[in-house]
Amino acid sequence: MTVVERPEFRGPVHYGSLQLSTRYLLSPLAGFTTLPFRRIVRNIGGVGLATTDLVNCRALLEKNERTMQMIETHSEDQPFAVQIFGSDPQHMVEAAQFLVEHGVATIDINMGCPVNRIAGAGSGAGMMTQTEKTISLVQKIVEAVELPVSVKMRLGWDSENLTAPFFAKEFEQIGVCAIAIHGRTREQGFGGSVSLPGIRKVVEAVEKIPVVGNGDVRNVIDAAHMIRETGCHAVSIGRAALANPWIFRQLDEWERTGQYSPAGTFDERLTLMLLQHQHMEERHTPERAIILFRKMAHWYLKGMRIRKKLRGDFQKISTRDEFIEAIQRIRDEGPVGGNRTGVLTDCHIPVPNGPVDKW
Ligand SMILES: Cc1cc2nc3c(=O)[nH]c(=O)nc-3n(C[C@H](O)[C@H](O)[C@H](O)COP(=O)(O)O)c2cc1C
Repeated sequence: MTVVERPEFRGPVHYGSLQLSTRYLLSPLAGFTTLPFRRIVRNIGGVGLATTDLVNCRALLEKNERTMQMIETHSEDQPFAVQIFGSDPQHMVEAAQFLVEHGVATIDINMGCPVNRIAGAGSGAGMMTQTEKTISLVQKIVEAVELPVSVKMRLGWDSENLTAPFFAKEFEQIGVCAIAIHGRTREQGFGGSVSLPGIRKVVEAVEKIPVVGNGDVRNVIDAAHMIRETGCHAVSIGRAALANPWIFRQLDEWERTGQYSPAGTFDERLTLMLLQHQHMEERHTPERAIILFRKMAHWYLKGMRIRKKLRGDFQKISTRDEFIEAIQRIRDEGPVGGNRTGVLTDCHIPVPNGPVDKW
């Protein structure tokens, strides 16, 4: 058990009428936080809300096959939010209405995506550069659906334009239920460090709605620091959950008791990998499941302290038989310098950059 001093916590987190079971949320990571992964972290426990990767509202209205797969959920994946992006108010409103019919608990609007194709077209982070149009767009969505609508954004476009507190205040007035804020500007990408004073300004800009602090939280100590320094109501975690899917359970345990249990052992992680692969095979052909799974396995295997060569070999597998063989070798060999059922030795686990280094 590890003891970490607790900050003062706010009351339970509500997204409109929906009360979250914990204040620890899974942040969207396009290509990673898919349903199979969400089921894994949910099963471990401690997740208050999980969100899909960003979904193109137009593709949703066209019922594009891959997009429809992105909004699939499961009884183990509740409550869940779908994150949409777009710049055409009509499409965004219709997409939101479409989601209401699909059993979604809340809708999140992406105001942080930096990819030129998206931000340049006025959606994602591009919304942070257009005040009136953006507020009007968000208002139309809020008015069109009964579900709680949240917004996820960065501190602003660049250090000269830190518009997040302004938008947060305006959004609260028009009925947005929560704001998630990644404490960097669009220009910063993943460089530098997260500005906790910047997040604090967003917390101070709103009166009642919860603000979800986000960025670089890798463990309980980081989360305690985030909550203490910003006063945020909730914390969302993206990349650290890939290396440690136990992080939400640890945070929840710590909030309740002041201490937390170690993350999973080698054997537990292996079981988790197999389960996630099984979830992937339920949705994709065996070949596609392997391709998608390799990307996840990269982070799992680092956390499991697998010999580098075996990690490299895993990235070359392409068939189910090769998968089974590779897992068997990993099982036989076990972790480097540790044991299968004890606490794994700590090591720095780098986490992936965004698609353009600038999420
Ligand atoms: C690979 C990758 C994909 C991402 N995809 C999304 C996305 O679809 N929607 C979104 O709002 N943010 C996305 N983000 C940003 C994360 O949700 C989060 O704000 C950021 O990674 C900082 O949090 P972290 O340090 O806990 O990962 C992505 C980030 C990464 C690294």
